[in-house]
Amino acid sequence: MTDFASLLVPDRGQKARPIHLVDKHSFEPWAKKRPAEDRALLEAHRFDGKTAFAFALLPRGSDFEVVSVVENVDALSPWCLAKLAESLAEGTYKLAKGDPGKATLGWLLGQHRFDAYRSKKEDRERGPRALVTGEAAKIDSAIRLAEATALVRDLVDTPAADLGPEQLEHAVRGVASELGAQVKVTSDEDLKNGYPLIAAVGAGAIEARAPRLIELEWGKPDDPRVAIVGKGVCFDTGGLDLKPASGMRIMKKDMGGAAHAIAIARLIIAERLPVRLHLLIAAVENAVSGAAYRPGDIVKSRKGPFVEVDNTDAEGRLVLADALTRASEERPDLIVDFATLTGAARVALGPDLPAMFANEDDLATAIEAAAREVDDPLWRMPLWDPYDEALKSNIADLANMANNAMAGCIYAALFLRRFVGEKIAWAHLDTWAWRDPAKPGRPKGGDALGLRAIFAMLQSRYSRG
Ligand code: BES
Ligand code: ZN
Ligand code: ZN
Repeated sequence: MTDFASLLVPDRGQKARPIHLVDKHSFEPWAKKRPAEDRALLEAHRFDGKTAFAFALLPRGSDFEVVSVVENVDALSPWCLAKLAESLAEGTYKLAKGDPGKATLGWLLGQHRFDAYRSKKEDRERGPRALVTGEAAKIDSAIRLAEATALVRDLVDTPAADLGPEQLEHAVRGVASELGAQVKVTSDEDLKNGYPLIAAVGAGAIEARAPRLIELEWGKPDDPRVAIVGKGVCFDTGGLDLKPASGMRIMKKDMGGAAHAIAIARLIIAERLPVRLHLLIAAVENAVSGAAYRPGDIVKSRKGPFVEVDNTDAEGRLVLADALTRASEERPDLIVDFATLTGAARVALGPDLPAMFANEDDLATAIEAAAREVDDPLWRMPLWDPYDEALKSNIADLANMANNAMAGCIYAALFLRRFVGEKIAWAHLDTWAWRDPAKPGRPKGGDALGLRAIFAMLQSRYSRG
């Protein structure tokens, strides 16, 4: 992974190229105070301070200064320096005024590329663009946030052929051995007996890519228990209810929820949040084969109810159901799950906004506030009780799909809710884990959406003092 630590440097009065940030209000007064050559150059470039991310280089002998447009100079967004970080030459830079604060994230991620499959590592050969920041104490946290995002991106971008349930297990074990935590993996007969829904969804790939439940535990026994659950469908063909080619094309990202969950777990441990963490990753491949589960199959869930498989493509809620049951058995203070659960959430909210569901208003409000605070937007959707009855089956206790084609993300969330223990606070993020089109600091491909919002909520819910 990118060595983010070399890209943020504490201010020791070192030599650095100044970056002037302007917005549409401050540009004119700022420009007036510049030397005539600067003004002429900016005019020649039709640089008017109105186009966010636009920048220009102002020559200073053999070197240069930078001017860049941001939306609001008084409230820097996490991404306002990303385009600069992507574009500028190697060297050390420093804001002409003030500290970068939140904007360090975009500076770091603007220099992260998933290049594992490029024979020429052009971006890495280009050399680092370092940013001087006065807030030395915050550097470590900024780096960890960037690492978490980069981890999600890299896991999601890795092709399914190289990232199956086994490699997801490696990713969890990697976090555990790096930071010190316990890992338990349930597979084979134990999975069939203990987690029948996970085993059913994974049955089609049992030979090559065996399904498993991966659990990680960390923290002091007396701290409040928090369970983080991730949908780890390493590839979603749809199963026998096969997806069309267009729908299948990016389904390597169907483990995006797991990637978010693993990254949050790493953050929680690295920041030593005073919680007793329980990470649960339901890792499967939803494949087509003679061993695959079928439409009409009925599976007894870990919790007890029999689930009729209406559609093998609604596999995420099945694997999550058993994982949520397991999480609930420990009676945690809070469960948060991440899942690329429905196309319907994307239809409703588009590419930028994870759909957030919560069974307590206070929790939802806290997540919304945290999302605003860290500029990681999401949108609450309702767990609309009257829709719950549509999950009925003719012959089993429930079906994995509603008997109508509307509000798909709500039905999916209501299905999950059936498996969350009584009176346990629970939030569910139906996230895309993908970025398209690209934005500065956020290339097309895997991306973390909702990760920083949930982590910020956890920090304010559990931080001591
Ligand atoms: N992994 C998909 C959901 C998905 C599709 C997320 C496209 C992002 C983009 C999920 O397993 C799925 O296929 N869901 C179905 C459910 C339906 C069969 C009830 C869906 O959303 O169409
Ligand atoms: Zn599916
Ligand atoms: Zn899926």
